[in-house]
Amino acid sequence: MEKPEHVHIEEPLEEWDGELSCVRHDRQTGAWLIVAVHSTVLGPAAGGTRAMHYPSPGHAAVDATRLAAAMTLKMAVAGLPMGGGKAVIALPRLKAALDDADWRRLLQLHAAVLERLHGTYWTGPDVGTGSEDMDVLRSATRYAFGASPPLGGPGSSAPATAAGVFAAIQAASTEAGLEGLDGRRVLVQGMGAVGSLVGELAADSGAQLLVTDVDPARCRSAIDRGARFVASADATRTECDVLVPCATGGLVDAAIARTVPCTVIAGAANNPLAGDRTADILAERGIVYAPDFVANAGGAIHLVGRQVLGWTADQVHDRTAAIGTTLQAIFADSRARGITADQAARDLAAGRLQPAGRVGS
Ligand code: NAI
Ligand code: PHE
Repeated sequence: MEKPEHVHIEEPLEEWDGELSCVRHDRQTGAWLIVAVHSTVLGPAAGGTRAMHYPSPGHAAVDATRLAAAMTLKMAVAGLPMGGGKAVIALPRLKAALDDADWRRLLQLHAAVLERLHGTYWTGPDVGTGSEDMDVLRSATRYAFGASPPLGGPGSSAPATAAGVFAAIQAASTEAGLEGLDGRRVLVQGMGAVGSLVGELAADSGAQLLVTDVDPARCRSAIDRGARFVASADATRTECDVLVPCATGGLVDAAIARTVPCTVIAGAANNPLAGDRTADILAERGIVYAPDFVANAGGAIHLVGRQVLGWTADQVHDRTAAIGTTLQAIFADSRARGITADQAARDLAAGRLQPAGRVGS
């Protein structure tokens, strides 16, 4: 996410092309609850709830609106019958410093907002929320994906997301001519729920694993299994073959794109590129970039597949592995038309959003 000096909350909402935004302030905790419904053209909007501290409610609205738009693209490319949305709970302080009672209160308020939206938006886990939070939401609303299996839910989306990201890494590496990951340096930025699993898959395939996180403790178990630690400030200037962004968004801006010493960028982070020309700069330098909303769709495939479409684990596995095939087609289209892979993926999504047209736009 870009961090302009001052962002008034109305600015991102005015600029945005989404269908609906809903903002609630909780005076007791000081938190802001924002739901952004970008598109319901393909079905009810869906996307996770991100809970974190932002510099201002305006910054939270920037994140919510951009993330919701990315979900529209993700659902369209993955062929899922859902639209794009996102929720942000902008916390008054870091989540770790929030007491349990306040967090529970915020989840109850969030559930009440979801109920009032009557299924226009379905939520799920994202940065700062997990299955245990979805269990709490599910006790008050049915519009939540990803509750834990004992409560009848499909459980964490992280393993499927990681599997899809790994398929994306393989497809992008082939496109870059790397011929397999054996001995390649794979740098995972953000060793959380998804990044740690992607790291395991990369190491299992013979890659040399490099790991970084603003919370170095998250890297501990990978280091114990032989990974090399990289300080988070050095992540985008450390030589590697594949950079795997699995933290928050916006960590690769135009300046970094001009210098980042890697051959492939493929990861889970939503909206990892900041700025309009960043994908072009990467392409000009010959860096193969796997568009985030294609690479990280495994979680959406798992949640929507299991909970809405009644898919088996095998069907989810097959659809997630197919992310690699989708990327091959996107790379081929990008080469044939002389456009970036990011643009080719956006065009693919636009083609799927086109026929039904936009109601009320
Ligand atoms: P997480 O919260 O479990 O992990 C994120 C990790 O990134 C944390 O360990 C955090 O300390 C670290 N981090 C934050 N800022 C950092 C920075 N500047 N440099 C290095 N590390 C930093 O989140 P999760 O679930 O693993 O998601 C990671 C990314 O993937 C997010 O952008 C999320 O939106 C996206 N994503 C997640 C999906 C899922 O199924 N969990 C599905 C699709 C996308
Ligand atoms: N937050 C995850 C994503 O960005 C998982 C998710 C998908 C949550 C779909 C809700 C709905 O893909």
